[in-house]
Amino acid sequence: MSLQSGIKRSAIALSSLWLMVISQAGMAATPQNFLDTYAQEAKVQNPGFKGFSAKAGENFYKQTHGGDWSCSSCHTGNPTQAGKHAVTSKVIQPLSPNANPARFSDVDKVNKWFKRNCNDVLKRECTPEEKGNLLTYLLSVK
Ligand code: HEC
Repeated sequence: MSLQSGIKRSAIALSSLWLMVISQAGMAATPQNFLDTYAQEAKVQNPGFKGFSAKAGENFYKQTHGGDWSCSSCHTGNPTQAGKHAVTSKVIQPLSPNANPARFSDVDKVNKWFKRNCNDVLKRECTPEEKGNLLTYLLSVK
């Protein structure tokens, strides 16, 4: 392992570890904790990574990705509003932490739903850059 990739590995291990510690200690995470972790992970995957974009996050949220659904199919075109499940019609509380402080406070919940929803919409997991862009967008809507 080169020194460079060793350093990168340590950085990603540390930031992922931090979220793990928060979740195991039963502490509430903040949206910023998630942004920091996704940024570390994005840098490892793409050394040219320059930071997250709310615009890219908005496009990601509103567009379909080869299937029938976008994120907005269930979370609505405005993530500060309550949404409705596209299949079950169950009410879904707003996804933006600006409208719903419970969002991005529970590490296990965020990981679980990113995994499930990304698989439903993209047929794969979301990348750290996609998650960071999305969260940046969610924090930018009023
Ligand atoms: C088929 C409906 C559906 C689609 C499509 C969908 N979601 Fe969800 N999402 C849900 C449900 C249901 C929950 C869990 C209930 C809740 O937390 O209100 C949820 C919860 C979440 C959470 C948990 C946030 C937290 O802190 O509580 C995140 C993150 C999330 N969704 C992101 C996405 C993203 C990103 C997309 C698009 C790639 C997406 N969702 C598409 C239904 C959907």
